[in-house]
Amino acid sequence: MALYSEKVMDHFRNPRNVGVIEDANGIGEVGNAKCGDIMKMYLKIEDDIIRDVKFETFGCGSAIASSSMATELIKGKPVADAMKLTNKAVAEALDGLPDYKMHCSVLAEEAIQSALEDYEKRKARSAGAGSSNS
Ligand code: FES
Repeated sequence: MALYSEKVMDHFRNPRNVGVIEDANGIGEVGNAKCGDIMKMYLKIEDDIIRDVKFETFGCGSAIASSSMATELIKGKPVADAMKLTNKAVAEALDGLPDYKMHCSVLAEEAIQSALEDYEKRKARSAGAGSSNS
């Protein structure tokens, strides 16, 4: 039995949405201390819709496949939907990951959550601009 699904191999070999968004308004970077892998997510959000998303992953094949799939799952979706994205959903969309590789999909969930938090923070800041709360 193959260790990795066709989808994992496909997203590992041809990752979607790799790169940087220069004018991103949500950026998140997370790492896993155990394996040392790092993932960075860039979001371009307009009217609470994720218009564009790109990632840079310095990590294992499953981390690359997970970030690629995760970007595909949230692209064009409302922020509220992206917030609900779980690592389980990412792994399922990849037709599964080996148990000991599940943490790689967790990295994708965390990177997106962290980028969304950054977006919310920036939004709150610009809403509060001009007030005493700067
Ligand atoms: Fe660390 Fe895959 S081994 S993210």
